[in-house]
Amino acid sequence: MLPATLATLSCLVILFPTIHASSLHPLIVQSGGAWSGAEDAVKVPVVLGVMSACPDAILCENVYDHVVQRIGDKVDLSLSFIGNLNSSEPDFGVTCMHGPNECAGNVQELCAIKYAPFERWWEFVQCQNFQGRYEVGKPATALKCANSAKLDWENSGVGACAGLSGDGKGKEGIDLLRESIQATKLLGIEKSCTVIINGKQVCVRDGAWKECEGGHTPADFIRQIEEEYAKLNQN
Ligand SMILES: *[C@@H]1O[C@H](CO)[C@@H](O)[C@H](O)[C@H]1NC(C)=O
Repeated sequence: MLPATLATLSCLVILFPTIHASSLHPLIVQSGGAWSGAEDAVKVPVVLGVMSACPDAILCENVYDHVVQRIGDKVDLSLSFIGNLNSSEPDFGVTCMHGPNECAGNVQELCAIKYAPFERWWEFVQCQNFQGRYEVGKPATALKCANSAKLDWENSGVGACAGLSGDGKGKEGIDLLRESIQATKLLGIEKSCTVIINGKQVCVRDGAWKECEGGHTPADFIRQIEEEYAKLNQN
């Protein structure tokens, strides 16, 4: 692990070499559900490479909350989690930079993404973030946020996936975490938070905004997404 002082400044992962994919294709499980079927328009895939307890990810997801409030119907937003597979880790088989609670938070969010419609899982993530990064992943936080996001923990499938107690240690959820981490590496994502719009990395938040040629405000992301939407839907 990096020293704690460095970890608070940056959520860069440099523990293992990363496999770079030759091109960026969204391999991750999409949110599905709520928006699909309304019309034939193709939504723009947007991937945020994150760690659930990383301050940069929390900030980035806050910026994206403004984006989806404005153009949520044009976006297919997903989260891709950063970590390292590690067979020495007793609970998850994964090392998460901010500790096991972060692995649990990642699992809870992945299970919400899989089993709840976009509006519900996104609200769940926002609620976790609002509690503060040291609360993300704790069972009490997960159950409280499920409640406030109107996400039925026990009957929706989310709880069965993540662990009914809220501990983030459900087998299915841990499998999702391992898959997500591998997909993240294939996408070439190393830093939390990394923003990928329609397969192209457009911005990184790593202590500061970096490599954001098109800007990093909600309006900047909205403009870039609108451009991709127009391209994807021209006939
Ligand atoms: C793997 O996990 C063990 C047990 O938690 C830990 O001591 C070690 O630092 C981890 N290795 C890496 C490279 O993260």
